[in-house]
Amino acid sequence: MSCAIIPGSYDPITIGHLEMIRRTAKLYDKVIVLSAINKSKKYLFCDNARLALIKDAIKDIDNACAMSYSGLLVDFCAANDNPVIVKGVRDSKDFSYESEMAELNKFLGQKRHGINVETMLMISDESYKTISSSKVKICIETGTDYDELVPNPVLLKELLAK
Ligand code: PNS
Repeated sequence: MSCAIIPGSYDPITIGHLEMIRRTAKLYDKVIVLSAINKSKKYLFCDNARLALIKDAIKDIDNACAMSYSGLLVDFCAANDNPVIVKGVRDSKDFSYESEMAELNKFLGQKRHGINVETMLMISDESYKTISSSKVKICIETGTDYDELVPNPVLLKELLAK
């Protein structure tokens, strides 16, 4: 069974992430959306809220599931049959960052587990290129409407109010 993992901070998940997940779900038998928990990173949304928003967004994608993980991505890959990592790329800045991560994960996978960790970069569709979690957060902080940028603005606002 082919399996892909789409890891990220998802702080919060956007409609850009969701379109990447939908496209990946058409290419692989199973997709794991992994919400990274990085203890040294400051998130706007807590771990539970980020995961709840992902789970809600993908509820109609039969072959996708969501989980959180706080260790190294390659450790998760090694423990889960070494799925292909899929990352979305909007522009050259993303490409540069994701190339670096792909190389790092390949190196760590080999050194720590003797596995070949592969990363596939997926180009985002034109209409999603300007959408980012950072944009959503700036809108939240400044009281600017962002409903069109996230899959479920009602749930997001509920979680923010908690
Ligand atoms: O796009 P993001 O939010 O930076 O993606 C997060 C992640 C974990 C996929 C990316 O930082 C990565 O590939 N890191 C490799 C090193 C690692 O596993 N770090 C774990 C931090 S929780």
